[in-house]
Amino acid sequence: MPDGGHLRVVVLISGGGSNLQALMDQQTKGLPIEIVAVISNRPDAYGLERARRQGIPTEVLDHRRYDSREPYEADLQGLIDRYRPGLVVLAGFMRILTPRLVGHYLGRMLNIHPSLLPKFRGLHTHQRALDAGEREHGASVHFVTAELDGGPVIIQARLPIRSGEDAASLAARVLTQEHIIYPRAVGWFAQGRLRLGDDGLPWLDGAPLLSPVVIEASSAGERREV
Ligand code: GAR
Repeated sequence: MPDGGHLRVVVLISGGGSNLQALMDQQTKGLPIEIVAVISNRPDAYGLERARRQGIPTEVLDHRRYDSREPYEADLQGLIDRYRPGLVVLAGFMRILTPRLVGHYLGRMLNIHPSLLPKFRGLHTHQRALDAGEREHGASVHFVTAELDGGPVIIQARLPIRSGEDAASLAARVLTQEHIIYPRAVGWFAQGRLRLGDDGLPWLDGAPLLSPVVIEASSAGERREV
């Protein structure tokens, strides 16, 4: 691994960048990564400001300037690869990626999704979980494959839904858990403990993960790993 054993990471964002912030904080605390660039498809993404404050190079590639997905993605791939990342981290990057781009980064692109996958792929996950009468909800980190939000799940944070809770409250509680599980998965990858196996499963510490690692957050807020 180049750069003194630190994994080169490019982070893609579209918005607030709180997951980016969690990764930057853990990098400061010794996670063996170097975030070499933050790329946003939206010029006004607050995450860009977070990255600048940390002295991390930022790039904006505005999808609205393109007529179709393919030329946008060709430029996006060129931009990402200029930074020679060992891992690409989607942190609230709200663009659907084509199989071609995903294939280029297969096994070295992670995403976080605010649901207990395979439940609630796509948007508005918190409201949909409430509407479905779910008793628990959470977030998942997965390898990105051509299937939208369908790649093999590495780690999940689960929390019980409180009675009378609204989507905003639930989203905020899930986000707090995202900030725990995403750096953990990225750390495993950076340490060489995590990879995507030829069998399509995530492998952790030399064995296939037949089900995701789960972090339970009780309604009282404390955590327990199972
Ligand atoms: C997070 O909740 C993340 O799980 C979600 O966007 C939010 C980004 O927050 N991602 C998706 O919905 C992807 N399908 P952040 O910008 O504060 O990290």
